[in-house]
Amino acid sequence: MLIRKPDDIRSSEITPESVYRSRREFVKDLAIGGGLLATAGFSHSALAVSGQQMAQAALQPGDDLTPERIATSYNNFYEFGMDKADPAQHAHTMSTQPWEVMVSGEAAKTGKFDLSDIIKGLSVEERIYRFRCVEAWSMVIPWSGIEMKSVLEQFEPNGNAQYVEFTTLERPSEMRGQRSLFSGIDWPYIEGLRMDEAYHPLTLMATGLYGKDLPNQNGAPWRLMVPWKYGFKSVKSIVKIHFTARQPKNTWNVLAPNEYGFYGNVNPAVAHPRWSQASERRLPSSLLNQNRIPTLPFNGYADQVASLYAGMDLRRNF
Ligand code: MTE
Repeated sequence: MLIRKPDDIRSSEITPESVYRSRREFVKDLAIGGGLLATAGFSHSALAVSGQQMAQAALQPGDDLTPERIATSYNNFYEFGMDKADPAQHAHTMSTQPWEVMVSGEAAKTGKFDLSDIIKGLSVEERIYRFRCVEAWSMVIPWSGIEMKSVLEQFEPNGNAQYVEFTTLERPSEMRGQRSLFSGIDWPYIEGLRMDEAYHPLTLMATGLYGKDLPNQNGAPWRLMVPWKYGFKSVKSIVKIHFTARQPKNTWNVLAPNEYGFYGNVNPAVAHPRWSQASERRLPSSLLNQNRIPTLPFNGYADQVASLYAGMDLRRNF
């Protein structure tokens, strides 16, 4: 990310769009699935439904699903290397069973939990989100996940918890990028959110994409997914959740504070020091057809989230 701008995907790597279900079909399935869950009496709260409605409302004309093969082979997961192709090639070395999560800080229930116990009984939803990387490419991805609020609430964060920090697995024996002398990153990868951001109905703990379990290269077994923020906020393969009164350090901000802030909200009006953020390459794109589209404030989710930042100077808090 810091090192260079991404290469274009070769057109030969692009699987025909017809292979994938259209957005329309997928949305229809969501509606039917949601209805069935509700009538079957599952714990599909009013909040969860409204999160799904928010997700659908933000989709723009032309937001067709990105071919699955691209979403799972063009990745940023520096723990496995800096090339876009490295995670798909090398992330299989990470073992995700069992998966323990350490919960600490300003909460009543802290300690080590097995992921399966954390998510037991919580409703998994499918949501199509626009996904915008700070490197100025974007995708449209059908995620499965659990609203972050219902994940976090069970630990009973107290009144001092203003922020929540998430940490990725650090296991150099299985993560070749963590063994590399060239990554420049002080492992483990860390990200954070304000509690009100974490509790927003659009914030997901993603456990899958395209109706399947999350592949390792996309952050198995669970990762953050915050659609109105640049992709670097959506930390992968989370093993620690820490509730804190202080704003957490986040990996890219520590590495290059002038280039990446804590908030990471998608903002076409604030350029990265080395490139404009006014537009993005919607993948698949190629050298001949860049497929450039305008970037939207908060990545198209302004109606749903802009109020979280009322009164804040978004140029300073980038
Ligand atoms: N999480 C960890 N642990 N390591 C990373 O290198 N890269 C981030 C984010 N989460 C990253 C990470 C960046 S820059 C982006 S754009 C997204 O993951 C990419 O997610 P994807 O590979 O599923 O598209």
